[in-house]
Amino acid sequence: MNGTEKIIEYLEKNKGEMISSPRSLFGGMDAGEFEITDINREKEYITIKPEGSIELPFEFSLIKKAVDLVLSEGVVSLESEEDTNGPVVLEKKLKEWQLEENQQMLNTKFVPYIADLIVLSGVAAYGWVKTPEGKKIRAIAVKEAQKNPQKKAAKDTSGDWDRLAKNGAQRPKVKNGGAYTKEKAEVLITYATRHGSTADIAWSIGNSFSDAGFKAEVKKIQNVDDVRPYKLVVIGTPIYDNNVLPEVVSFADLHRDWLDKRKVALFVVGRTLRNKDDEKILQTEKIIQKITNIVDIVDIGMFAGKVAPENLPVKERLGGIFGEKQAGDFRDWREIGEWSKDLRKKIFFSD
Ligand SMILES: Cc1cc2nc3c(=O)[nH]c(=O)nc-3n(C[C@H](O)[C@H](O)[C@H](O)COP(=O)(O)O)c2cc1C
Repeated sequence: MNGTEKIIEYLEKNKGEMISSPRSLFGGMDAGEFEITDINREKEYITIKPEGSIELPFEFSLIKKAVDLVLSEGVVSLESEEDTNGPVVLEKKLKEWQLEENQQMLNTKFVPYIADLIVLSGVAAYGWVKTPEGKKIRAIAVKEAQKNPQKKAAKDTSGDWDRLAKNGAQRPKVKNGGAYTKEKAEVLITYATRHGSTADIAWSIGNSFSDAGFKAEVKKIQNVDDVRPYKLVVIGTPIYDNNVLPEVVSFADLHRDWLDKRKVALFVVGRTLRNKDDEKILQTEKIIQKITNIVDIVDIGMFAGKVAPENLPVKERLGGIFGEKQAGDFRDWREIGEWSKDLRKKIFFSD
């Protein structure tokens, strides 16, 4: 479940309830109760009613934008003023976005409730953070415990993506030692998945880049609107029935003009990629032609995946081409780490 889906789930579960704003953590900040009065899926807006006030209807796209911002930035300020080198300001970003996308002024009353919903649904948490200048500010941040999906994924071989999804993008470390950077992300790792194991691998690659000091974002392919901010785009897909997933081909096709001007790497994940002999490599290269025919690829990673017996069609579960003994988690985290490192060297001449 991604951040936006978590919020939808929270909204649906709590519609009609009086909700206490978690902003009370910040003391002075106006934090009364409010109620979710309407969720209009068709027109994509929700209505909330703060206690003792009129109803506030606002577009769901604003929440989605805010979630994306929190997940990609890691830390977002709730103050109205931006601090030099400090985190981006939620209200300011939403204002800019509303103006750019919808040619509308933002009703700033929505902002605290959007932040509340992000916190209440468990996507992130409120907290005080210090700017590099030492000023204490109110912020919303991806939870500390959720910040290291790579380690979790490596240990937790069940690879249950649902548990990892709430990680959001880890705030990448910055090379110059500053606490924050406003630069656009340099590396995008985007993936398609059916059962989560490719997502875990994407996170592992993303963390490898962040740990090396790069700005890296990890996103499900359906959630990528624009590839322009990135110097390198890493695309990941599992193989199902000798095919890459269709959403990856659509993505390559849709963004081909911009991808053409960027470095693009690909990783594929498959049951058959445990032993990579020449024949296997050739076969895999054929499978990925659907993508390589559209975009030039600088490097291809071929990784063994995870096959859960319960994901196999009944026929195969009973001993078809896969057979029980073929099921298992064959992801080799060391190999994935090595590939990430080599890719960095190749593209950025850096460890
Ligand atoms: C129904 C089914 C069909 C599959 N077909 C292939 C295949 O043709 N070739 C292959 O190498 N792996 C195949 N696999 C293995 C998957 O690629 C592997 O489980 C992968 O890790 C799944 O990625 P995901 O968890 O991100 O969806 C198949 C798995 C299932 C369940």
